[in-house]
Amino acid sequence: MKEHLEVAKAAAVKAGTILRERISGGREISYKGEINLVTEMDRLSERTVVEAIHRAFPDHGVLAEEEAQIENSSGSLWIIDPLDGTTNYAHGYPSFSVSIALESSGEVIVGVVYDPMRDELFSAARGQGAFLNGNPIAVSRNDILIRSLLATGFPYDRAVSKENNLNYFNALILVSQEIRRSGSASLDLCAVAAGRLDGYWELKLHPWDVAAGSLIVQEAGGTMSDFTGARFNIRDKELVASNGRIHGLMLDILSAVKRKA
Ligand code: IPD
Ligand code: CA
Ligand code: CA
Repeated sequence: MKEHLEVAKAAAVKAGTILRERISGGREISYKGEINLVTEMDRLSERTVVEAIHRAFPDHGVLAEEEAQIENSSGSLWIIDPLDGTTNYAHGYPSFSVSIALESSGEVIVGVVYDPMRDELFSAARGQGAFLNGNPIAVSRNDILIRSLLATGFPYDRAVSKENNLNYFNALILVSQEIRRSGSASLDLCAVAAGRLDGYWELKLHPWDVAAGSLIVQEAGGTMSDFTGARFNIRDKELVASNGRIHGLMLDILSAVKRKA
């Protein structure tokens, strides 16, 4: 696993450095939906990561957000978000990351998230703890919801779908200390892992948004589940991540709101 982790770290830093160096340049933007955009930098970052992974592990499969999908029977699948926080990036707002995970026989075993603007490299290998720039990290110990700093995000189809997270947000904003919105799901997960946030929830994410970050949360001692408390799966459409201590309290609110929906 060590070699896999090192290759993922190097690829994330290489791609993230390119993103950081070019954040203030003009860039071509195209739209996948009314507000869901993609820049040429998403694609360049993806090619950088995929090339590095492919060079080291030519037999492995790849599931990357923008272009690369290599399916095979190796049992190893690299799951890549080359630019998580692309709306921020397109505006020059410095909150975005590169997220790389390795799934082996259906289980995420390596996760790396790089924040190029803060030069913060989060990493985890299953069973070996979570790290920030090589130093161990752990979730917070707070067990009081009203003293908890939470985060969330809103899906791109929020204007046309009732499942737009506003009902959950409206409930949790009244019973927590504050709710942040970084615009990068993987950075939200890493903030839970590092004890900077006590909890985070979101709907309708994709495997590339959450694969690396969910392992990092778990390896930092945190809890991941769906809104019912069931074991988290990276292909789920509901995610709750927390320090474990406020998990039940968050689930109580989320399930009460869901019953009314
Ligand atoms: C998005 C970010 C954002 C989340 C969105 C994701 P993208 O990923 O993670 O925080 O709220 O739902 O799609 O499109 O910037 O890679
Ligand atoms: Ca993403
Ligand atoms: Ca992306």
